[in-house]
Amino acid sequence: MYTIIIEDNIYLPLHKFSVKTDKYKMITMSQLSEVAVFFHKPISVDDIGIRCTIKAISGPHAILEGICRIRTKEVLDEIEGFIEQDDIQELYERNFINDGLIQGVKALVRLILPNAPDITRVKEPGQFADTVAQYLNLDYSEKLKLLNTPDSISRIKLIFGYLNKQNQKGRTQTAAKGVVNPFLEDIKNLEEKIEKAQLSDEARITLNKEMDKLKYIHPSSPEYSVSRSYIEFTLDMPWNSSTQDDLDIEKAQKILDEDHFNLKEVKDRILEFLAVKKLNPSSKGSILCFCGPPGVGKTSLGKSIASAMARKYIRVSLGGIRDEAEIRGHRRTYIGAMPGRIIKEIQRSKTKNPVFILDEIDKLGKDFRGDPSSALLEVLDPEQNFSFKDNYLDIPFDLSNVMFIGTANTTETIPLTLLDRMEIIEIPGYTDSEKINIAKLYLVNKKAKAVGLSKDTLIFQEDALEFLIREYTMEAGVRELERKIEAIYRKLARKKASDKEIPEYITKDTVHEYLGPAPRHRQLALEHDSIGISTGLAWTPAGGDILIIETTSVPGSGKLELTGNMGNIMQESARIALGFVKGHTQELGIEDIDFSKIDIHLHVPAGAISKDGPSGGLAMLSALTSLFKKMPLRKDTAITGEVTLSGRILPVGGIKEKILAGIRAGISYIVIPEKNEPDCEKLLKDNPLNIEIIYADKVSDVLPFLFRNITDAGFSYNSL
Ligand SMILES: Nc1ncnc2c1ncn2[C@@H]1O[C@H](COP(=O)(O)OP(=O)(O)O)[C@@H](O)[C@H]1O
Ligand SMILES: [Mg+2]
Repeated sequence: MYTIIIEDNIYLPLHKFSVKTDKYKMITMSQLSEVAVFFHKPISVDDIGIRCTIKAISGPHAILEGICRIRTKEVLDEIEGFIEQDDIQELYERNFINDGLIQGVKALVRLILPNAPDITRVKEPGQFADTVAQYLNLDYSEKLKLLNTPDSISRIKLIFGYLNKQNQKGRTQTAAKGVVNPFLEDIKNLEEKIEKAQLSDEARITLNKEMDKLKYIHPSSPEYSVSRSYIEFTLDMPWNSSTQDDLDIEKAQKILDEDHFNLKEVKDRILEFLAVKKLNPSSKGSILCFCGPPGVGKTSLGKSIASAMARKYIRVSLGGIRDEAEIRGHRRTYIGAMPGRIIKEIQRSKTKNPVFILDEIDKLGKDFRGDPSSALLEVLDPEQNFSFKDNYLDIPFDLSNVMFIGTANTTETIPLTLLDRMEIIEIPGYTDSEKINIAKLYLVNKKAKAVGLSKDTLIFQEDALEFLIREYTMEAGVRELERKIEAIYRKLARKKASDKEIPEYITKDTVHEYLGPAPRHRQLALEHDSIGISTGLAWTPAGGDILIIETTSVPGSGKLELTGNMGNIMQESARIALGFVKGHTQELGIEDIDFSKIDIHLHVPAGAISKDGPSGGLAMLSALTSLFKKMPLRKDTAITGEVTLSGRILPVGGIKEKILAGIRAGISYIVIPEKNEPDCEKLLKDNPLNIEIIYADKVSDVLPFLFRNITDAGFSYNSL
């Protein structure tokens, strides 16, 4: 390549510059598109110059633009200036430190050269260095050094140094005005902290790398604080600190009993868990998940377990989490990146073995931002969780010592893969007498204390509690009850605080006085015996509820219309019920109906709530029978049970919730499939209930009862 030599200045690639040469050179150049430019004489092998395009020639001047560095391979003609050369390839290895360095230079450029065009956009690091160089006031030797540094990262480092020098000049002036730069000291502090900290090997390596990067970043740049908070965060992780487990079973039992009434099965399971842990400390044990309606003590049990074991307690509510990053964190390349909830909470607990409540695991969402349940799966999997990797922390953290406990209202919405990992412990809801005990033994004292009243100055009468539970709350758990007690106590506390006299006893009247008239918001039992209307029972995530089923018929063409937001299975149940009625008109004592000339409408009010399952079958069958017999069904009875086309009654789920819901609604009798008898017996053993249960194995077992056993009901049920 044809060469020209410039001895009084140095240009770098990417710069445009003009050169002045003699006539002969000009003539030669006018026939070329490129030349090699060197900055000293003579040229020898391995010297570095730049390859330039010739942009324009006018008289003795030529405008050149540098393209890249070249290295001389052979000098062909020293006098005429011909060489053979190679372009220098700039290899750039992308990695953590390099990226950090570039971020640092960019931050400095923005600080020192706020008016330069947008040079921070240049992507390739070597080009970026050369571009920045244009804007710096560099002397000959500095430029020479840049020219002779073909490795792009080394060049960036040089640029970083020059930038800092310029910045320092600016800063001495600021410092003179009394602003002290805490930068270097800060770094020293961090280094000391890392030195002293108890870290895993991986954490130490990563932190040292991060420190290397930090040194190159200007402290006023955002990158500095990002990098710094990462280091701080990582240092604060409890890599090696844990609490000593207290595995004294008796003491644990005492604590559990102190905090929660009854729940014997649940407590037994927890104590077994502790016993296993005591005998075999390395056992992983299964992950417990408490499942039941709101306010039955799922979350607070978790807390008691923590205190029984003398572990730290943390809780993350998973309700509504849709973004996987909320569990697993954001990559640090994001501005504003954060660790996920798991790691963040572990850090807050300052120990690596807390009791960790994954609250409302059934309300975990899912959308385009990834599936949080898959991240959770990793958290819970004993094969993987000893090296859980959060995107932000980016260093595996051992979660295998954490005791995870889930809570849920229903298992139906928990992804199966997660469900597989957990042992479900049902907490179905409380009877009124259980609630009275919970209130008397726990809530009353707790709330008295909370408002600053001594528990002895006030006695909540039992019938007042019962009144409060029956008339003012409508729930499976005791949360609303707890709130109401607190509301009463707050009013009393206010009286006391203003030196007014407060009563010795809380009576029904006190409750009425402080809470006003009882709300009438609840779904209550029917007021009259009615034709075509029956009372069913439903299980819901919030406990149970009664379900009124209405039927009517109008002239038509044999259609069955179903409304009230029923799911497919429930719709099928309705068809089966109707099928049974149509097929057994004689036995049921139904006269003269041409089903092809009527349309039947079956409705389950409260259409906003979706309902499904087969357990409404018997209630629907009863309503239809009543409709066609034109005889009223008794209002005081609630019915649950699946029916088959031949009239057999199959068992259903959620018996305890359903019975409790019936009682709450003021029902006196409940029809229950005979095959569910064991469920009921378990419940009735501990709780004398104010309700009568009627077991039924086939339709004919209950129909007469539902029609108040009147003699002229017209059933020939022997054949049913
Ligand atoms: N069996 C119980 N004994 C004493 N207190 C209880 C019992 N069950 C629930 N509670 C209290 O009721 C309140 C609500 O419980 P919480 O744990 O929040 O319910 P959940 O998580 O099941 O919705 C808490 O103050 C809890 O202590
Ligand atoms: Mg809860």
